[in-house]
Amino acid sequence: MFLFKFIVSSVLPFLILLVIKLIHHKRTTHSSQKHENRPPSPWKLPIIGNLHQLSGNQRSLSILAKKHGPVMLLHLGCVPVLIASSANAAREILKNHEPMFLDRLKSTNLGKITYNFKDLTFSPYGEHWRHAKRILVHHLLSHNKVSSYQKVREEEVTLMMDIIKESCGSLVNFSELMILHTNNVFCRVAIGRKFERKKVKDLIELSVVMIGLFRFVDYMPSLSWIDKLRGLDSTMENHHKKVDKFLDGVIEEHLCKKRREYDSDKSCEIDEEQCFIDVLLKNKENDDTTSFLFERDDIKGLFLDIFLAGTIQTFSVLEWALSELVQNPKTMKKLQEEVREYAQGKPNVTDEDLAKLEYLNAVFKETMRLHPSPPLIPRELTQDLNLMGYEIKCGTKVFINTWAIGRDPTLWDEPEVFKPERFLSSPIDYYGAYFELIPFGTGRRGCPGIHYSKAINEITLANLVYKFDLAPPSGEKPKDLDMSESSGALIHRKNNLFLVPPLAFK
Ligand code: HEM
Repeated sequence: MFLFKFIVSSVLPFLILLVIKLIHHKRTTHSSQKHENRPPSPWKLPIIGNLHQLSGNQRSLSILAKKHGPVMLLHLGCVPVLIASSANAAREILKNHEPMFLDRLKSTNLGKITYNFKDLTFSPYGEHWRHAKRILVHHLLSHNKVSSYQKVREEEVTLMMDIIKESCGSLVNFSELMILHTNNVFCRVAIGRKFERKKVKDLIELSVVMIGLFRFVDYMPSLSWIDKLRGLDSTMENHHKKVDKFLDGVIEEHLCKKRREYDSDKSCEIDEEQCFIDVLLKNKENDDTTSFLFERDDIKGLFLDIFLAGTIQTFSVLEWALSELVQNPKTMKKLQEEVREYAQGKPNVTDEDLAKLEYLNAVFKETMRLHPSPPLIPRELTQDLNLMGYEIKCGTKVFINTWAIGRDPTLWDEPEVFKPERFLSSPIDYYGAYFELIPFGTGRRGCPGIHYSKAINEITLANLVYKFDLAPPSGEKPKDLDMSESSGALIHRKNNLFLVPPLAFK
C-alpha cells in the first residue's frame, strides 16, 4: 500500500515524462527558423516543451542563454516564457518598455498562498497594488521608518552576539542564527513581538514548499489529472491551513490588544506601540481622493508576503556575504580592518558608523552581484510587443536572469571571483539605475525593502566582523567551504553555514 502510494505520488509523473520524452525523441525545428521574428528557442519536445532542459535553477538557464542569446523564448509545457539574460535586455524590459511589463506571472500555488493575489508581490498592477504599496512604504519601509527601528536592530544584534559569545570555540549554525535574527527584527517592527525558532522555521518551510510545488495544471493542463493522483490539492490545502492559522493568530492577537484597551484583558503580550499590522487593521486608509478597504485576506496576504521577504531574502544576502568572506580570508581581513578602525574603542558598531564604511558597502554589492536572491525577476507582458527586433506575444511570462547578468564576462572582469574592490572606484549601485546590478529589480514594481534590508544587513555584518574572527570548522580550509546553492525561486545556501567563532577581543 505504502509502495503504491509512493509510486503514484512521486514516481508516476516522472515516468510519464520519461515515456513522453522517449516516444517523441525527435528534435523539433528551431522556432526562430520557423518564425523569423520570434526570439531564438532551444529545441523542444511536444507537450513538455523545454521543461526537460531545466534542472530547476538559474545556472541551466544561463547555459541555454549562452547558446541562444540574451533574449530567448522557452516553452514550459504550453506556456511561453521569455528569458532576458543581459543588462541591455533588462533595460529594455524594465525601463524602456516598463508600462507593458508591470504585471506578474500567476500560478495555482501562488494564488493559494497569496489569498488569490491579495499580497503585493504577485498582485496584478492596479488599484489594490497601488494602495498596498503606498501603505507598506509609508508605514513600514520609508527612510524615516527604517531609521526609527535603529534601537530594535541594535538590541537584536546584541542578543545575537551574546548567543555567539556563549558558544565561542564550538560549532555554530550561522544560517539558523541569522534567519532567526532577521525574523526577530522584522516581527518586532511589523507586529511588535517575536516568535520562537520552531514556529518561524515551520512557517518558512511550509511557504517555500507551497511556492515551489510543481503542478501540471499550470503548464500542461491536459495532464492535470497527475496533480490529483499525487494528492497535490490536499497537500496544498493542509499546508495552507497551517499558514492561515498562524496568520489568524497574529491578527487575533492584535485585535485582542485593541480590546484590552477597553476590558483590561492581560492575556496578550505584545508591545503597546502601534505597529504595521495595527495600521492595516484600522481597515480604512484615506487619502485625498479615495478610501480603500483592507479585508482580512488582504491583510494576511500582504503580511505573509513581507514576512517572507523581510526574513528569507534579507537573511540570504547576509548568509552569502559571510560565506564569501570566510572563503576569502584576505577580503575578510580588509573588511575587519576598516570596521575596527572606524569603531575603535566602541562597544559596538552603530548606525552612525555605517555611512563611512565603504568597503562594507562594496562587500554587499559584490555579494548581490554573485548571489542575487531571487535570481530571476518575474514579470508578464500585457500586450503584443516588438522587443529588440523580436515579436513577443501578450501574456508571455518574463524572467530577467539577474544571476546571469551578475556573471556576464562582458560586464565584469573575472566574474566568478569575489572582489568587492571592483566597486570602490565605480559609481555602480543597486538602486535600479545600473542594469548590470539589479538585485532589487527597478521601476514601479521594484523592491520597496532596499533601505530596510540594507540597514539590518550592514549593522549585523559590521558587528560580526568587528567582534569575531570567524573561521570554518577546524581542519577545513577556507577555500574548501561548501558554497552549493539551493535551487528554486530563491537561492540561498543549499547546506547550513557552520562556523567556529573564537573571540577577537572582548
Ligand atoms: C536583500 C533583500 C531583498 C532582495 C534582494 C529583494 C529583491 C526583490 C526583487 C528582485 C523584487 C522584484 C522587483 C521587480 O520586479 O523589479 C522584489 C519585490 C518586492 N520586495 Fe523585495 N527584496 C529584498 C527585501 C525585501 C524586504 C525586506 C521587503 C519587505 C519587508 C521586500 C518586499 C518586496 C515586495 C512587497 C516586492 C513586490 C513589489 C511590487 O511588486 O511592487 N523585499 N524584491
